[in-house]
Amino acid sequence: MTPSTISFARGAPSLDIVDVDGLREAADRAFRADPGGLTGYGTAIGYPPLREWIAAHHGVDPARVIVTNGSMQADAFLFEALVSPGDAVVVERPTYDRTLLSLRNRAADLHAVPLEGDGIDVDELAALLERGVRPVLAHLIPNFQNPAGFTLSAAKRERVVELAGEYGFTIFEDDPYVAIRFAGEPLATMLELPGGAERVVYASSFSKTVCPGIRVGYLVGPENVIGRIRGLATNTYISPSMVAQGIVHEFCASGALERSIETVKSALRERVERLAAALERDLPDARFTPPEGGYFMWVDLPEGTDVDALFDAAAERGVAFVKGSDFMVQGGESSLRLAYSGVTADQIEEGVTRLADAYRAVSSAPAPSRG
Ligand SMILES: Cc1ncc(COP(=O)(O)O)c(C=O)c1O
Repeated sequence: MTPSTISFARGAPSLDIVDVDGLREAADRAFRADPGGLTGYGTAIGYPPLREWIAAHHGVDPARVIVTNGSMQADAFLFEALVSPGDAVVVERPTYDRTLLSLRNRAADLHAVPLEGDGIDVDELAALLERGVRPVLAHLIPNFQNPAGFTLSAAKRERVVELAGEYGFTIFEDDPYVAIRFAGEPLATMLELPGGAERVVYASSFSKTVCPGIRVGYLVGPENVIGRIRGLATNTYISPSMVAQGIVHEFCASGALERSIETVKSALRERVERLAAALERDLPDARFTPPEGGYFMWVDLPEGTDVDALFDAAAERGVAFVKGSDFMVQGGESSLRLAYSGVTADQIEEGVTRLADAYRAVSSAPAPSRG
């Protein structure tokens, strides 16, 4: 019988790090404080008090903010507004599989630029632009990238904004993990850098700091882009969920958000440590860099490792992950993404033991000696 599956596949929090009581209390307060605002249709730009809270958080005018049903909805609106079939779009290699899918569905001409330990290879990006490629958009996940866990350095952030100014493209700064930093120092967003206000559309979300089921995300961008997206939002759904946004507003304004972020950060810090230690012990062939935040760790196995076979062998042993190739137009065949957000620290040890057993079954690696 297959043991119950330990999933390193899902980029979602385990229930123990969701502040369910805090959310229930925030909902109660929100309905009492503003019953009309929560139960009416509201407007396409989002629940006004939350929009103002987000604007103040980023130090921008509320006219530059639109709040949506999760940031995926924001992405979809942005692509609809800016990307036509055949338009060149830069993505990182590897990158978030859903963004790839969404851009492919729009028939975008994708240019995948390699990701390095300190973010996108800016020399490759510059070379692409010098060769005459003229992207309308460059999609970058600057902090604790999904799937790699890497963070874009300060110097590279500046360079990307400069290139966007020089070659006239929009940077889509997709930043849902920014608040989940559990090591190292925070970096300025590209939105905040000189030139960023004109060139960057910034997306973030409450999925990683409150919970994904609440489905609240947002964009900050130039007023004309936000205005176009507001039109698309009105035509799509009149307005996003005022109930969800009213609850999130109350959660943020009451200080529950900071507490929730602390809970998530301390749990994930411990999980990364356990994951790295377990891999070093049980799977010494694995190459990885423990991330400083976020949900994901990228693992390279020796070239030639058949990750398709590993995936099946792991499933038979009750452990799941996502194959590296799912995050690339081409390549990634000997890599995998391990999400540590949805597993408890104890499950991590057992999960890695199973994964290592699966690896030995598909490769000729001997069992590591435990001394
Ligand atoms: C890079 C990135 N962007 C967007 C999202 C989607 O976020 P949301 O839940 O706000 O739709 C995710 C979720 O995993 C993500 O990793």
